Amino acid sequence: MSATAKKSAPLPDDIRAMKGGTPLVSLPAYPTPKAQMMDDHCDFVLVGDSVGMVLHGLPSTLGVTMDMMLMHGQAVARGLRQAMLVVDMPFGSYEQGPAQAFENAARIMAETGAAAVKLEGGQHMADTIAFLTARGVPVMAHIGLTPQSINTLGGYKVQGRGDAGAALMADAQAVSDAGAFAVVLEKVPATLADEITAAVPIPTIGIGASAGCDGQILVVDDMLGLFTAFKAKFVKRYAMLGDDGTAAIAAYADDVRARRFPGPEHVFADAAPDAKP
Ligand code: KIV
Repeated sequence: MSATAKKSAPLPDDIRAMKGGTPLVSLPAYPTPKAQMMDDHCDFVLVGDSVGMVLHGLPSTLGVTMDMMLMHGQAVARGLRQAMLVVDMPFGSYEQGPAQAFENAARIMAETGAAAVKLEGGQHMADTIAFLTARGVPVMAHIGLTPQSINTLGGYKVQGRGDAGAALMADAQAVSDAGAFAVVLEKVPATLADEITAAVPIPTIGIGASAGCDGQILVVDDMLGLFTAFKAKFVKRYAMLGDDGTAAIAAYADDVRARRFPGPEHVFADAAPDAKP
């Protein structure tokens, strides 16, 4: 996007219309500075509930709250000018039924300025997706490995292998029929991801899926090497900023202990007419 900078962020319908074209680029962002780094390069930026694990040290996304999503959504919104903002609905904020989902989705959109929300689930969430989209809430669906359900899925396993492929295809069709404008496919076999991409009229966004998806998403702290507690097979590391940061902190600690920092250039003279603040 940088070469042909957009004047305003796309809307969910613009994202839907990008089906089958140049692959959609997206990353989850938290907090503001990372959103600023992504703004020129991503079609949409997601405030994912992965924030709970990546920034807050939670063991899973289950402990993420509405307050956390609202705070991070607002912070990321302040860093975006061109990319569309999508905010995840956290565990427990939508599963009870369409009315609960609408109340919390409307709050997310009103308080963060997000253009859309993302929620996890296939066929069983179709009624909720239809209810939301009919009332002005664009929905990105998320199927396959849905991390908010790890306790019923038996962990972070590949979904849709063998006979389970048909159910996942039905999930994709159900969320598309219900009005979702895009669907995230997480940790599904590449062939199945390609079949779903060919079958549904909305963009598929892959994470651990296939290069044939209509777009890709990757947790940013994983690809920057900032989150190193574990590395999924589908993660490609584009940098090792965590190692760089640790080395920088160690160098600072050495400098402080050896009184090499602050240096003369970092301190203020008694009288300094040209001193910078
Ligand atoms: O929470 C998140 O960051 C996500 C993406 C990885 C799809 O759901």
